[in-house]
Amino acid sequence: MARFTGRSVLVTGSSQGIGAACARRFAKEGANVVINGRKESEETKALLAELQAMGQRCVFVAADVGTAAAAATLVAQAVEAIGVLDVLVNNAGVERSSDFWDTTEEDYDLVMDTNVKGPFFVTQAFVKHCRAAARKGAVVNMSSVHEELAFPHFASYCASKGAMRMLTRDLANELAPLGIRINNVAPGAIATPINRHLMDTPELLRPLQAKIPLGRLGQADEVAALVAFLASEEAAYVTGSTYFVDGGLSVSYSEQ
Ligand code: NAI
Repeated sequence: MARFTGRSVLVTGSSQGIGAACARRFAKEGANVVINGRKESEETKALLAELQAMGQRCVFVAADVGTAAAAATLVAQAVEAIGVLDVLVNNAGVERSSDFWDTTEEDYDLVMDTNVKGPFFVTQAFVKHCRAAARKGAVVNMSSVHEELAFPHFASYCASKGAMRMLTRDLANELAPLGIRINNVAPGAIATPINRHLMDTPELLRPLQAKIPLGRLGQADEVAALVAFLASEEAAYVTGSTYFVDGGLSVSYSEQ
């Protein structure tokens, strides 16, 4: 199925993990893809070569999405490289763990700048592009089950993903008249580098798996499948909501 032939997609934070899986999925389905990370690396070079080998126009643009200026430059460079953008996936995200009372301003700013300010201003630049080009568009934000579920010792992360829930609901109203849809994907525990410590620590992994009705961590390409659906014309009547891909974690029932 080539749902994205002739369309162009920007995926932020796509050097690895869920972002890289989204980039692969879009390229496989015929899209031109702009991948992004803070800087070029062996990983970004290898991913770019893999995407280009699928026959689409694919480029890498370096940018730290955490400032408004860099967000605007990222979109401008992506458009310059690839001509036009139809889909934006706000995937870049970080988490920092600490007791609430020990959380530093530096860690708080890193999480909020990357996870909220980044998507806010990259989306703003994307919307300006769509308006100027008189084109419709689709935005998919990578939220988390923690836009809803508490996660003690990750207060800044929970606050950032909670903010994304409300941002998406609000923008769905403001962007609909422009023909731009916006939705959140909320993964549960996915096997990516962000969870390396968890995956390498059986005493943490086992109790988590026991809480997940489907009994395992998710895979990045299972998240990418949902992202691609929401970005596609098949989801033409879908905007302003969050879709969970979490093996049932957010609705798990415990008798304890
Ligand atoms: P990851 O750590 O494997 O990848 C994150 C990517 O974002 C990397 O490519 C990194 O270079 C990039 N990045 C980080 N800060 C950036 C910045 N300021 N500018 C540009 N790029 C930046 O993480 P993973 O697991 O792939 O997560 C991707 C998204 O999914 C994040 O938003 C995360 O919060 C969310 N998520 C992940 C879950 C999981 O279990 N893996 C669960 C729920 C949500």
